[in-house]
Amino acid sequence: TESTLADIVSHAKEYGFVFPSSEIYDGLAAVYDYGPNGVELKNNLKALWWKAMTQLNQNVVGIDAAIFMHPTTWKASGHVDGFSDPMIDNLDSKKRYRADVLLEERAAEYEKNGDQARADALLAEMGRLLTAEDLAGVKQLIIDEKILCPISKTGNWTDVRQFNLMFSTQMGAVAEGSSEIYLRPETAQGIFVNFLNVQKSARQKVPFGIAQIGKAFRNEIVARQFIFRMREFEQMEMQFFVRPGTEGEWYEHWKATRRRWHEVMGLPADKLRFHDHEKLAHYAKAAVDIEYEFPFGFKEIEGIHSRSDFDLTQHQQYSRKKQNYFDNDLNPETGKPYGNYVPYVVETSVGADRLFLATLCQAFQKEDITEGEGEQQKVKSRTVLRLHPAVAPVKAAIFPLVKKDGLPEKATEIYNALRHDFRLVVEEKDSIGTRYTRQDLIGTPFCIAVDHQTLEDNTVTVRHRDSREQTRMPISELRSYIGEAVSL
Ligand code: GAP
Repeated sequence: TESTLADIVSHAKEYGFVFPSSEIYDGLAAVYDYGPNGVELKNNLKALWWKAMTQLNQNVVGIDAAIFMHPTTWKASGHVDGFSDPMIDNLDSKKRYRADVLLEERAAEYEKNGDQARADALLAEMGRLLTAEDLAGVKQLIIDEKILCPISKTGNWTDVRQFNLMFSTQMGAVAEGSSEIYLRPETAQGIFVNFLNVQKSARQKVPFGIAQIGKAFRNEIVARQFIFRMREFEQMEMQFFVRPGTEGEWYEHWKATRRRWHEVMGLPADKLRFHDHEKLAHYAKAAVDIEYEFPFGFKEIEGIHSRSDFDLTQHQQYSRKKQNYFDNDLNPETGKPYGNYVPYVVETSVGADRLFLATLCQAFQKEDITEGEGEQQKVKSRTVLRLHPAVAPVKAAIFPLVKKDGLPEKATEIYNALRHDFRLVVEEKDSIGTRYTRQDLIGTPFCIAVDHQTLEDNTVTVRHRDSREQTRMPISELRSYIGEAVSL
């Protein structure tokens, strides 16, 4: 059955995946905390991304830059002047809206009603107006689309204005003359300013990439859809530095590579699509989103951007430090080295939280199952998280059938033998059926039942989450069996 976002939000809270931040004080808008199962799932997603970048590619290395950066960074990057969303306020309700989101929602309605041409035309027009910074035109478009009227009968709206998304704070004690600094709105700039440090210390040759996972902060105007749009979130970004003129090939390469990765991680091909941007960010020459079909529609999970030499050139100008690279490779046309240039950049940028949400939405299933045989047969509904075993918070749960006869001790023995390899739990309480249900709810791929036969022949029953089938196998095979399932 179709799951709604509301089901997923309440499941995430009840089973320790995601809690509203500071909930005892009624929460903080668009800020969330990850619970015991959530942090495991998120760490697994991050670890697999890190591996896909820095282990599977010899020419991609990682860094972990600070959240605070020199304030000039954000002037150079264009964020002080250009990192804003168009907003419009309703003076009656005192509500603030994103002008582009209002129009996107209208386009989505057209699309849903089968009028793709009208949806495309609206988005194209919006892109044109925003690129031309024609904010009065954007307001007129909203009026023409009759979006304002249903919200406010009096039409008491402000003009469309640009709202900068960066959070700022003070560094240093006020008395000593503090300076205003920003919480980074993207992790990418920590990579750009370290380009030469990394290139030299890691002895990398262009083309090469720098990967980073870290927090980013944006004062989002529209904070909705759970962890889809947060004010504090985590990005996994990789900046790939290339020789000018080769960026087109690398853009296509990373576009395809990243989409494939999402499929391997368990997002089905038919729920993923590419979406070219109507409006390019201030730094981008070409940009595409990888979108996933959430319960609330196709939405961006990752962006692939061709950023040209924009960032390095800007930093070169503001810092007055050369950001050149000397390329020894011979240009076949001239027979001479390519020589000095500022590399071009193709970036891949995925939100860890959005990936988490997509993974959870994909895994969450309510289904009817039949249990028992003949007269005893009954249909019941179960909720199960069909997570890829590689990302599941718990890989296997070990259940002694009864709390006596040495079965709990045997279960502990298995736990001790495998806990260095996998995250496991031992559960003794409640009926075996209840214990299975609990593990289904958090997506544990295997449940290992320890019974009296185990004491005799060292075999256990392994129950599979998705098929609910059971296999008898020797304890000695568990490590390789689970190991195989949890690797990608
Ligand atoms: N360095 C490029 C960059 O930051 P972006 O498209 O603004 O590009 C990249 O962001 C990714 O970061 C998005 O695809 C999304 O997954 C994630 N992201 C951006 N804003 C977010 C927010 N407010 N909450 C959660 N994730 C966000």
